[in-house]
Amino acid sequence: MSGFGALGLAPWLAAQAEQVGLRKPTPVQEACIPPALQGRDCMGCAKTGSGKTAAFVLPILQKLSEDPYGIFCLVLTPTRELAYQIAEQFRVLGKPLGLKDCIIVGGMDMVSQALELSRKPHVVIATPGRLADHLRSSNTFSLQKIKFLVLDEADRLLEQGCTDFTQDLEVILAAVPAGRQTMLFSATLTDTLNELKRIAMNQPFFWESTSEVRTVEQLDQRYLLVPEKVKDAYLIHLVQTFQDEHEDWSIIIFTNTCKNCQILNMMLQKFNFPSVALHSMMKQKQRFAALAKFKSSIFKILIATDVAARGLDIPTVQVVINHNTPGLPKIYIHRVGRTARAGRHGIAITLVTQYDIHLVHAIEEQIKMKLQEFSAEEQAVLSILTQVNVVRRECEIKLEGTDFDEKKEINKRKQMILEGKDPDLEEQRKAELAKIRKKNAQFRTQVRQTLEDRRQLLLRRKLQKRARRRHHQQEKPKVAGEKGQDLTSSQAGRR
Ligand SMILES: Nc1ncnc2c1ncn2[C@@H]1O[C@H](COP(=O)(O)OP(=O)(O)OP(=O)(O)O)[C@@H](O)[C@H]1O
Ligand SMILES: [Mg+2]
Repeated sequence: MSGFGALGLAPWLAAQAEQVGLRKPTPVQEACIPPALQGRDCMGCAKTGSGKTAAFVLPILQKLSEDPYGIFCLVLTPTRELAYQIAEQFRVLGKPLGLKDCIIVGGMDMVSQALELSRKPHVVIATPGRLADHLRSSNTFSLQKIKFLVLDEADRLLEQGCTDFTQDLEVILAAVPAGRQTMLFSATLTDTLNELKRIAMNQPFFWESTSEVRTVEQLDQRYLLVPEKVKDAYLIHLVQTFQDEHEDWSIIIFTNTCKNCQILNMMLQKFNFPSVALHSMMKQKQRFAALAKFKSSIFKILIATDVAARGLDIPTVQVVINHNTPGLPKIYIHRVGRTARAGRHGIAITLVTQYDIHLVHAIEEQIKMKLQEFSAEEQAVLSILTQVNVVRRECEIKLEGTDFDEKKEINKRKQMILEGKDPDLEEQRKAELAKIRKKNAQFRTQVRQTLEDRRQLLLRRKLQKRARRRHHQQEKPKVAGEKGQDLTSSQAGRR
C-alpha cells in the first residue's frame, strides 16, 4: 500500500484523493494524518501551498464516514472567501459520502444560515464573527456534540489585528465540548504557540516543516527600490511588462488600504488592464463576483488588501506584487504565498520606498533569506510617469465624488454597534479626548515657550554682563596708558 492508503485512510477516501489529483501525500499530510486518525489534537505549521487543507479534511472525512452525524465538525477561518474554498475541498473529497456542509460567514443572509444550521449539516465552515452572532441570538442548533474543531490560519484567529476575533472565539469555545479533537494549521504558527496550546488541550501533536527558510523554494523573491512618488508608475510598468511577456499569467497586487485598492483598480482599468478589486468595503456579492472573475482567468489582475493574503489557492497566479512593503514579516509570508503553490514556480516583487528599508530587513530576518533586486527599465517608467500621476489624480477626484468615505464611516459605526458601543457617544468621547489632547499640546507648547524665553533672557543678560565687563576691562588699561604716557612725557621732560 502506498500514498494516502498507507497513512491509514480507507481505500474509498484514498481513491477519492487520487481522483481529485492528490496522488502522493505532502509532508504535512504525511505527518499529521496518522495522529489525527488516532484521535490526537494536531498543530501543523507548514509553508504556504503545501496542502494543509487536505491534512485536516481527509482524516475528518474518514472519521465522519465511521460515525456520520451532524454537526460533526466545525472549521473556523478568518475570511469569508477562505471559508468557501475550504467548503469546496470538503465537498470534492467528501462526495462519496454525500457530505452536507454549511457556510456561515458575514455579509450573507442570517435567516437562511440559521435554517441551514438547524438542519444539522455534517460540517460547518465559519468565520468567527457570524458564528458567534448565531450562538448569541439563537438556540436552534448546538455545537455541543462536535467531534472536530479546526482553526485554519489559527494564528490569525488568535491575534488582535484590525479584525479582533478573540471575543467571538470565546463565545464559540464555550459552546463546543471539551472532549473534541482540535486541529490547528497555519504557515506561521510559531509566535502564537502558547495561546494555541490552550485551545488544543489534549497533548497536541505538533509538526513543523524542517526547512530553515520560511517561504517556498520555487518562489523567486525580489524587491524594487523606488521613490514614493513614482511607485504607481513602476506598478503600471511591471504589470504591462508581465502582460506583454506572459499572456496567460495572473497577477495579484497587494496594497494597504481599501481606498488605495479601489483607486489602483480604477487606474489599471483606465490603462485598459483586465483588473478586479477585492477589499472589505465591497459588498459580499461583489467580493465573490470579483474573485470568481479572477479565478476563471477572465480578469488576469486582482488588486486586493490583506483580506486576500491568507489561504486563497488560485493555481494560475504566477506573480505577486506588493504595492506597499508589508509592515509585518508574517503578512509578507502569506501574501507572497499566493503564488508558487503545490510545487509550481512564481515570482514576488515588493516595491520598497526609502522609508521601508527597515521593514525589508525584518522580513529577510524572519524568512531567513535575502530578497534579490529586480531591475526595471527606468527610462520606460519615466516616460509614463506624468500620465500615471494625472490618472491617479483623476481617479482620486472621481472616488471623492462617490460615497466611498461615507460608506467607510457607516461601516465603522456598524462595527461599533456590533461591539456593543454607542457610535454617537464614542464620537463625543473621541472629540472630548481630542480637545483634551489639543489643550495639553497647547499647554506643553506654552511651557516650552516660557522656558525658552527665560533661557533667552538669561543668555541675553549673561552676554550683556560679559560685554559690560569686557568694556570695563578695555577702559582700564586705556586710563592707565594715558597716565603712563603722561609719566613718560614728564620723565622725558625732566631728562
Ligand atoms: N498531496 C497533494 N498532491 C498534489 N497537490 C496537492 C496535494 N495536497 C494538496 N494539494 C494541492 O495544493 C494546493 C495548495 O493546498 P492548500 O490550499 O491546502 O495549501 P495550504 O498549505 O493550506 O496553503 P496556505 O498556507 O496558503 O493556506 C491545492 O491546490 C491543493 O489541491
Ligand atoms: Mg490553507
